[in-house]
This record gives sequence, C-alpha cells and structure tokens, in this order.
Amino acid sequence: MAYVVTESCIRCKYTDCVDVCPVDCFYEGPNMLVIHPDECIDCGLCEPECPVKAIAHEDELPQDQLDFIQINEEMAERWPNIYEVKDAPPDADEWKNVTAKRHLLEK
Ligand code: SF4
Ligand code: F3S
Repeated sequence: MAYVVTESCIRCKYTDCVDVCPVDCFYEGPNMLVIHPDECIDCGLCEPECPVKAIAHEDELPQDQLDFIQINEEMAERWPNIYEVKDAPPDADEWKNVTAKRHLLEK
C-alpha cells in the first residue's frame, strides 16, 4: 500500500510534498513527481501539503485516477530521486485548476 501522485501534479510540480517525506521516496519526471510504492511508508504527511490535492492513498483514488498507480510504480524506477524542494515551473499556477491534463504527461 502506498500514496500515489495523480494527474493534478502534471505541469504544477510544486514540490511541497518532497519537503515532508521522511523516507525521500519522491521521484522527478519532466513535469510531475511520482511516489515509489515500495519505499512509501504510508505516513500520510505529504497528502495535505500538496496545493492542488494531487496526492491520495491508493485505496482512496477516484476511479479515473487508478491508472496513476501503475504510472507511479513504473516512473519511480526510471526517474531520479528528488529530496529537496525546488521552484515550481513558471506557469504552474496556470495549470492548477486544469483537471484533464494526463495527455500532457512527459515520461
Ligand atoms: Fe512519503 Fe509519507 Fe507521502 Fe509516503 S505517505 S510519500 S512516506 S510523505
Ligand atoms: Fe506535485 Fe503536489 Fe508535490 S503538485 S510535486 S504532488 S506538492
């Protein structure tokens, strides 16, 4: 069981989540982060930190976000670890209310 980063993170990537993770299990892609499901200890600290509510427990994901379980699992093996907060993309705020953006995910 693990927490999962979902569609809302795409092109927002605020990284507030990274700051609180006690086991540094976030991984950074070109325009979103994912959580490594084997490293996440289910502490739940990151969930309230995300300004766009992109993080949820895998048991509580909306139906249309279930594919992000696999996306987190796969990309966590390919992308580099991120353990420090960094600046969000300059246009992050323009994307924070956009819900349908999975086609923009860059792997
Ligand atoms: Fe890290 Fe805890 Fe969030 Fe898992 S639930 S990603 S361990 S902060
Ligand atoms: Fe993404 Fe939210 Fe973290 S936008 S980078 S999951 S704070």
